[in-house]
Amino acid sequence: MSSNASRVLLSSHQIQNRVRELAAEIDRDYPHSRPLYLVSILKGSFMFMADLARALNRHNVRIEFMGISSYGSAKTSSGQVKVTRDLDVNIEGQHVLIVEDIIDSGVTLSYLRRLLTQRHPKSLEIVTLLDKPERRIQPVEVKYVGFSIPDEFVVGYGLDYAEDYRNLSDIRILSE
Ligand code: PRP
Repeated sequence: MSSNASRVLLSSHQIQNRVRELAAEIDRDYPHSRPLYLVSILKGSFMFMADLARALNRHNVRIEFMGISSYGSAKTSSGQVKVTRDLDVNIEGQHVLIVEDIIDSGVTLSYLRRLLTQRHPKSLEIVTLLDKPERRIQPVEVKYVGFSIPDEFVVGYGLDYAEDYRNLSDIRILSE
């Protein structure tokens, strides 16, 4: 492994244990008689999505993806967010769980929550593997959080730096 991402913040073992706990909680909270739509926000959440979906103990999990991009390099509370890939299913009347890798400013998820609420799902909640509460600009209600982490630049398990490191199975802190 390249030396500038050598400090492990969360090991693969810690992540997998927490994913199983989150899945057990989600399994308890949602009726097994109805489909549960998991909406993964590309690209960072692809690995979490795959592990979470496999840890759920039900057959009617629907796997969906959305692409979101933020304008400019700095995200601001003005919420300059746009959809680059939309859902191709109708979520009206469905239980929808947004699956994210990380919440930082909250701009992306507060926008997405507003957008998907307009489509009248039966329920709409968020699960994020990582949360950086110190960085919040816009408040966002998140039902399931894997780990609250300090304000460090993290990579691995889906998270990138200039598209590198997404394939790591643990989460590391990127140093200067
Ligand atoms: C990350 C993450 C969230 C967003 C969170 O995505 O996956 O979607 O940033 O940040 P916010 O709370 O400040 O809005 P990113 O834009 O890095 O794209 P990627 O998932 O394709 O790497």
